[in-house]
Amino acid sequence: MSFIQLRTKIPGPRSQQLMQRAEFATPRGLYHATPVFVAGAEGALIEDVDGNQLIDFAGGIGCLNTGHRAPRVIDAIRRQLDRFLHTSFNVLSYEGYVKLAERLNQITPGNFPKKTIFVNSGAEAVENAIKIARCYTHRPAILCFEDAFHGRTYMSMAVTSKTHPYKAGFEPLPGEVYRVPFGYCYRCSYSLSYPSCKMHCAHIEDTFRRVVAAESVAAVIAEPIMGEGGFITPPPEFFPVLSEICRKHGILIIADEVQTGFARAGALFASERLGLEPDLIVTAKSLGGGLPLAAVTGRAKIMDAPGYGAVGGTFGGNPAACEAALAVLDTIEEQNLSARANILGERFRKRAEQWQSRWELIGEVRGLGAMQALELARSRTSREPADEETRLVSQYCYEHGLVLITAGTYGNVIRLLMPLVITDAQMEEALDVLEAAFASVAEKRTAVAQPV
Ligand SMILES: Cc1ncc(COP(=O)(O)O)c(C=O)c1O
Repeated sequence: MSFIQLRTKIPGPRSQQLMQRAEFATPRGLYHATPVFVAGAEGALIEDVDGNQLIDFAGGIGCLNTGHRAPRVIDAIRRQLDRFLHTSFNVLSYEGYVKLAERLNQITPGNFPKKTIFVNSGAEAVENAIKIARCYTHRPAILCFEDAFHGRTYMSMAVTSKTHPYKAGFEPLPGEVYRVPFGYCYRCSYSLSYPSCKMHCAHIEDTFRRVVAAESVAAVIAEPIMGEGGFITPPPEFFPVLSEICRKHGILIIADEVQTGFARAGALFASERLGLEPDLIVTAKSLGGGLPLAAVTGRAKIMDAPGYGAVGGTFGGNPAACEAALAVLDTIEEQNLSARANILGERFRKRAEQWQSRWELIGEVRGLGAMQALELARSRTSREPADEETRLVSQYCYEHGLVLITAGTYGNVIRLLMPLVITDAQMEEALDVLEAAFASVAEKRTAVAQPV
């Protein structure tokens, strides 16, 4: 049985009409990874407005680790809808907010007292984590990484790395932000090779001499595995080395687990797999099971630094979103989705490594758990980013019923963000489409390179 069922070409006529209306009604700055409009979704499957059924490898940009319309999540939201929908936690409080805070305090890395605040988006959580870190340390500077992505609000944009389309044209950006290289071994900023480099990039003492004084730095913000930057997975020593230096100088560590969190990387949080014990942890995306919800969780004494009324907001920790998140956490536990992420990742890697030996285009296969990616390069030696080929692979996929999204500073990474509840058969079918996409794009490249 095939899960992908195509009744029209993709995009179908109805999707095309709606996209025309979208182009008139919404600004061009809103990007569309596919030209498809959705009518319904369940688990890892999407039905579009033309009656086509597609497999979802994007999960609404990594927000659906528990799948579309996870039964427990839908039940929890329904129950909350029948009670009340909004009061603002700042005006009339409710237990769901407190319960979820208690739960995150307990399950996030670090065996110390913690507190949690809820906001509406990953970017807003990043803003708050930085506010809280500065307030606690009374220090101004923030260290961040090349290739990082933290959001589109001003402060989150400032700590984001990629210039186009994220930062260019929006300057001036907030100051006291300093950027250092990440453990991106495939494209090392120092042109060194792991492991003989001895993790040169993590030894940031020189930065404290040449760029910004250690005692001026409030925090370093890091994605344990970079998401938008291209699923860049640092070597195991990277965070332990960096953490030791931060501890020595009283610099806080903020882990941005917006994309890595909630079982995606084969553990509840990627920090656990990379020897990272953050002072503050930022979560969003899959936390809400499809509803907008984000959190900052951290050491209680740090979280208590801002005074009464200095943090919060009208909608942060919406009652339905908190109930949905509690159900997400139950679902992850009950279905052991961290273990499932590792199985899915292994399955992908086996096939991807075969593809890599077959097609030069696949420069690197990398990731942890189900957070796997392929970096595409025009040649094994030059590693020239294959951005156009990446776009073609993604286009082939959605035209053949697989929705996936790309990533990478150079736009040359294919990333996997399928719901972790995807079945084995759905996963195999999706990988068949991806394999066919590579066959098609790689053949086109050969045809161009060797005209007859
Ligand atoms: C690591 C990371 N941080 C922050 C954000 C921003 O989250 P949001 O889009 O919810 O503002 C994202 C979004 O992709 C992300 O991947």
